[in-house]
Amino acid sequence: MENLQSIVDEIHHALLPRLGEGKVADYIPQLAHIDPKKFGIAVTDVDGVVAKAGDCDEPFSIQSISKVFTLTLALGKHGENVWKRVGREPSGSAFNSIVQLEHEEGKPRNPFINAGAIAVSDLILAGHTPREAIGEIVRFVQYLADDDGIAIDPAVAKSEAATGYRNIALANFMRGFGKLDHPVDHVLGVYFHHCALAMTCTQLAHSGLFLAAAGRNPLTGHTVVSRQRARRINALMLTCGHYDGSGDFAYRVGLPGKSGVGGGILAVAPGKASIAVWSPGLNHNGNSLVGSLALEMLAHRTGWSVF
Ligand code: DON
Repeated sequence: MENLQSIVDEIHHALLPRLGEGKVADYIPQLAHIDPKKFGIAVTDVDGVVAKAGDCDEPFSIQSISKVFTLTLALGKHGENVWKRVGREPSGSAFNSIVQLEHEEGKPRNPFINAGAIAVSDLILAGHTPREAIGEIVRFVQYLADDDGIAIDPAVAKSEAATGYRNIALANFMRGFGKLDHPVDHVLGVYFHHCALAMTCTQLAHSGLFLAAAGRNPLTGHTVVSRQRARRINALMLTCGHYDGSGDFAYRVGLPGKSGVGGGILAVAPGKASIAVWSPGLNHNGNSLVGSLALEMLAHRTGWSVF
């Protein structure tokens, strides 16, 4: 394979004419102001070599990408009991859909749709106040990325709390089925705050390295999870990480990935690298349009598909 930095530069250059395509998420008012032409990419390989381009060191709202980190934390706290509260199947529905919850007794299909991540927030709250739970999540992400500069953007958290009617409905619906242990406002406080984490592509790529390197972050030497758990989180990212666009992403890119409505995607090439891209315009499934293209090009050029 040719030099990673030249591949990344080439992808950046090739995508310049397409920046601005897609639709920036505006249902969270604070996200509607983001420049749609932003583009960043950072690739960190398992030897710690970083290749990057564009706005890769500008923080953006990671939104649903944070669900990978909260799932990892919840599995650490509760082990396989997590799966009593949330399933492991793709939903085939939009990320904020409520339809399956009624027939499935308030148990969300997977931890990456909004309902599933809200259930995971409830699990992280066990034995904690909301403030403590939020602090634990932030410290965990700082530890994963080996960067204590990572923080929540309070304006984004506030903006979502003020307008998150669908999530409020999802949480109340689950609580109505007895599937949340904590008050709805506490659970949503944790959920809205972790979605509002602001990170750069470089930080995000570092934070995903443990998934690329069998559970151990090669930069810090810390074992985060077992090899088996890393595999399983990657399996969930592949099957559910892009919601009702997960099949298309697997077809085009062939890597476990998790998207967020801020326009970020974290992708994992097991044994090879952790990759973060950011471009705010979204496709009709709510996943970054140009970000997906960048990953498609990268997978093509590197041969990193898991298939
Ligand atoms: O709850 C929400 O709607 C957002 N905080 C997160 C959704 C999201 O990122 C979906 N991803 N593409």
